[in-house]
Amino acid sequence: MCGIVGYTGTKAAKDILISGLKRLEYRGYDSAGVALERAQEGGTTLDVIRRVGKVAGLESELAGVDAASTCGIGHTRWATHGRPSMVNAHPHVSCDGRIAIVHNGIIENFAELRTELEGRGHRFASETDTEVFAHLIEEAYAQTHDLLAALREACARVVGAYGIAAVCADEPGVIAVARKDSPIIIGRGEHGSYVASDIIAVIDATRDVVVLEDGQFARLTPADIEYTDAQGVPIEPAVTHIDWDIDMAEKGGYPDFMLKEIYEQPRVVRDTLVGRMTAGELDIDELGLSMEELNLIDRVYVIACGTSYHAGLIAKNLIEAWARIPCEVEAASEFRYRNPIITPSTLVVAVSQSGETADTLAAIRDARIKGAKVFGITNVVGSPVARESDGVIYTKANKEIAVASTKSFIGQVVSLTLLALLLAQVKGKLTTGQVRMLFRELGDTAEQIQWVLDTQGEHIRDAAAACVDAHSALFVGRGMGAAIANEGALKLKEISYLHAEAYAAGEMKHGPIALIDPGFPVIAVATKSPVYDKTVSNLKECEARGARIIVVATEGDDDIREIADHVIYIPRVRDAFCAITATVPLQLLAREVALMRGCDVDQPRNLAKSVTVE
Ligand code: F6R
Repeated sequence: MCGIVGYTGTKAAKDILISGLKRLEYRGYDSAGVALERAQEGGTTLDVIRRVGKVAGLESELAGVDAASTCGIGHTRWATHGRPSMVNAHPHVSCDGRIAIVHNGIIENFAELRTELEGRGHRFASETDTEVFAHLIEEAYAQTHDLLAALREACARVVGAYGIAAVCADEPGVIAVARKDSPIIIGRGEHGSYVASDIIAVIDATRDVVVLEDGQFARLTPADIEYTDAQGVPIEPAVTHIDWDIDMAEKGGYPDFMLKEIYEQPRVVRDTLVGRMTAGELDIDELGLSMEELNLIDRVYVIACGTSYHAGLIAKNLIEAWARIPCEVEAASEFRYRNPIITPSTLVVAVSQSGETADTLAAIRDARIKGAKVFGITNVVGSPVARESDGVIYTKANKEIAVASTKSFIGQVVSLTLLALLLAQVKGKLTTGQVRMLFRELGDTAEQIQWVLDTQGEHIRDAAAACVDAHSALFVGRGMGAAIANEGALKLKEISYLHAEAYAAGEMKHGPIALIDPGFPVIAVATKSPVYDKTVSNLKECEARGARIIVVATEGDDDIREIADHVIYIPRVRDAFCAITATVPLQLLAREVALMRGCDVDQPRNLAKSVTVE
């Protein structure tokens, strides 16, 4: 998740861009940059200034730049393609340096476009997908001599998601803007026209904004803003008045980051899958292992901590079911002290949102010394986990701010599912046709999550009210449900401080059932699966002892109401993908309980977002 800001008007652009970028910085800050127009004898030129690291570094650099420029674009980057570095920082420029762009999103067909453009003599300076946009616009501009028309032509060639702003030294004072699947807002203020990827960047200057829709374009000038559709036909989009304060604006109108991030999960599923199926084949280009090496794998360890460990529990089910390779999941803090059996045909999959968890890193180093191939799954490009692994899949969750992981978990499960599909395909256990079908269904989980978010809020709040005064709660399930129960229990205890434990439902009678007295909350994942009936029998045992039963069930399962006090539904989904959909109500349940108990859901006590000590 990167941040865009642009301004054209009568005031010093560099000050407006820096203050906007600082407001966007909470989303990610591995590099930042601006392109500022500069009038000089003989015409206008563009100054492009970039720095690796936080916006403060860019600000110091700009201190020495004169404040005459009144038009420019800026960007703060959270790396997705290409490591965090000066060359990969935005803005990116055309070969002649007269067009500069900033971009949020992912260009799926950038590799083909880059080859094609290089074939026509374009020189690329970065490893990013974004740079193709600068060269496409450059080519189109040579024909049209109209920045907005050139941007429209470039967008027609690009497959993927974009929020983009472009400036051109030959059209001083103009910013051309487009959007598809990546937010862009545009507004007029007293001193000019503003564009940003988030209202927070420009809220001091304008509160009446146009939220650009997919396929809409805009030309900003100091005095005016024109909007067109993809054919160049003028349109008049609706203006929205924003009355949020700064705190609400940072959270996108949500009361807390945790809720905002839970609501981002459909996008995380989509983004993590972008570019992963090319010409009908699974495509994990950062794999770092050849198909021959993968085929030799005869044992998999998933090593991780906390929520990432729970993503590993889901992966174990999939890797063993589909690829038929034995898979163990271990807390990274235990793995390295246990002398596990590792051979050159062992694959160690290290899962870490932050990519810098000390226990996970130590386990990676140990596994490599012992001869294992190590594959990383992380959310942070260029992080130590990525650098120290043989190959990596990046989850596309973007920066997660709430301490409790939500959207990162979904990104991890989706990425691990891709890995399981790949192993199954390489081992010949699933056909290409089966892999394609499963990939499609995996993509459908985005809509299924959205359905849960749109329809289950009231049921989740009722269920939360039933837990709020409890001293303890049990989360139960079987199969995938048991794995999901672990994540539900962790979420509840870490943000609401209510003791919670997860148990395989069939194990209840071997001990934990002694805990149950009237009103004790038992939260079950009992979706339609091969073990549904068994789970229901276990729940009946709890019901008989007076437990208050909350069930995450499959839509249409009315029978479950006979034993459940509260039912939260998810859409019907293949058991293999149920973790993605069924975890969402448990995240929301934990948040509701925490709020009812007066807890800070974004910053729970005693915890840190990144755990860099062993
Ligand atoms: C729980 C949570 C933690 C992390 C754990 C590992 O909500 O966020 O349990 O999952 O500290 O962190 P990463 O994934 O960064 O290695």
